[in-house]
Amino acid sequence: MQQAEKKQRENWGSRFGFLMAAAGSAVGLGNIWRFPYLTGENGGGAFIVVYLICIVVVGLSIMTAEFAVGRRTGLAAVGAYKSQNKNWTFAGALGVLSGFFIMGFYPVVGGWSLAYMVKSVTGLLAAPEAIGDVFGGFIGAPVEPLAWMIVYLAINLVIVAKGIAGGIEKAGKVLMPTLFVLLLFIIFRSVSLPGAAAGLSFLFKPDWSAVNGSTVLAALGQAFFSLSLGMGCMITYGSYLNKKENLPSNALTVVAMDTSVAIMAGLAIFPALFAFGMEPTQGPGLVFVVVPSIFAAMGSIGTLFSVIFFAALTVAALTSSLSLMEVVVAYLIDEKSMPRKTATYLTSAIMAVMCVLSSLSLGVMSKVTVFGVGAFDFFDILTDKIFLAIGGMLLAIFVGWFMKKEDLKDELTNGGTVKFGLFEVWYNLVKFVIPVAIAVVAYFGITAIAQKSLMIFGLLIILVLAIFSKKL
Ligand code: PFF
Repeated sequence: MQQAEKKQRENWGSRFGFLMAAAGSAVGLGNIWRFPYLTGENGGGAFIVVYLICIVVVGLSIMTAEFAVGRRTGLAAVGAYKSQNKNWTFAGALGVLSGFFIMGFYPVVGGWSLAYMVKSVTGLLAAPEAIGDVFGGFIGAPVEPLAWMIVYLAINLVIVAKGIAGGIEKAGKVLMPTLFVLLLFIIFRSVSLPGAAAGLSFLFKPDWSAVNGSTVLAALGQAFFSLSLGMGCMITYGSYLNKKENLPSNALTVVAMDTSVAIMAGLAIFPALFAFGMEPTQGPGLVFVVVPSIFAAMGSIGTLFSVIFFAALTVAALTSSLSLMEVVVAYLIDEKSMPRKTATYLTSAIMAVMCVLSSLSLGVMSKVTVFGVGAFDFFDILTDKIFLAIGGMLLAIFVGWFMKKEDLKDELTNGGTVKFGLFEVWYNLVKFVIPVAIAVVAYFGITAIAQKSLMIFGLLIILVLAIFSKKL
């Protein structure tokens, strides 16, 4: 069965195609919307240092491990675990659940980005002093953000239902480099504003007093979120990877691209933010307020740049959310034998309901809470602060303790034909260091965080999945 599956697997057309797809999944709202505001809320430079440590020690190793598991088994996440050991199916299923929950708020923000593309030409930039209030009013409104979210989700639905993600990947090949160039341009504008230096020192002069258990957990969770790790997405991508490709070097490339975009987003936003005298701790509105403010000061050319920026951000978001939706849809197709269209319509419908709740929780339904948080935060915190990190920990344990070392070595060196000099380092990190490190960070993070009951609820969900592992 597994052999047959393997033969049916198509390979990526080219190395570039694979890298763009994996980087397309990784680079998204996580880098440009989420990373800057988390940095702002968690004190700046110190958060970035902790984040970079998480990326290098944990992220890179887990990315390599996910590629190896995917290519070795030739199967998507749930199947990959199941094919090795049925007691582990739940770890794959946890990934599917994470993808599902992330899609409970991601399209809301994708919708904001879509809306801002249009708002850029309909007067948003004409009144720079009102940009902050406009954002607050917009996301809390009962109808408008819902309409944009539905449009955004519908784009995902059409593409996933037809199984033609290739089209959007083509768009990504043009728009991702565009985003990169635009970020460079914005950085240039941002650092040359009077008063920008304060932003640079906020980014590069770590204030360690701002760091505690919950900051470290936030950095770890963000590393997983941003790199699309801990939920099987990169296992699935690895399963399509050609046997000749060098896995560790591909992992390094994707990680380097993702991290550069995040740091660039920080460099684009903070100097301007300080130059405008705004607050770094303003939360999710950061990119939607600071970037239009930069463009507003530039006249009509600013309008054009703003449209292109939000178009590129929307496409970056799409290449990520497609991979999220695909993880859920692929599970229903592979494991529950559902036709692709049914699976896509069903998941999209449920995601739409979750997103409506998330969007309304920022406005009219702000008083409705479960475990002390609204729907948006519920999905966000549950996935980012617990599911992904635990998903990564489970993967590390699985690879380190339940797969054969020789098999891993064989896979990572393409049967001994390419060199992976750091194999022993990687293996020991995955087997010993990462599981312990994640457990420690999760423990101290949960004790320091305000939403303890939500975190315990998350752990209970994982426990229930583990108990019913064989039924998933
Ligand atoms: N990495 C994406 C981002 O930074 O926006 C989000 C994401 C995509 C997370 C796919 C997880 C995933 F499997």
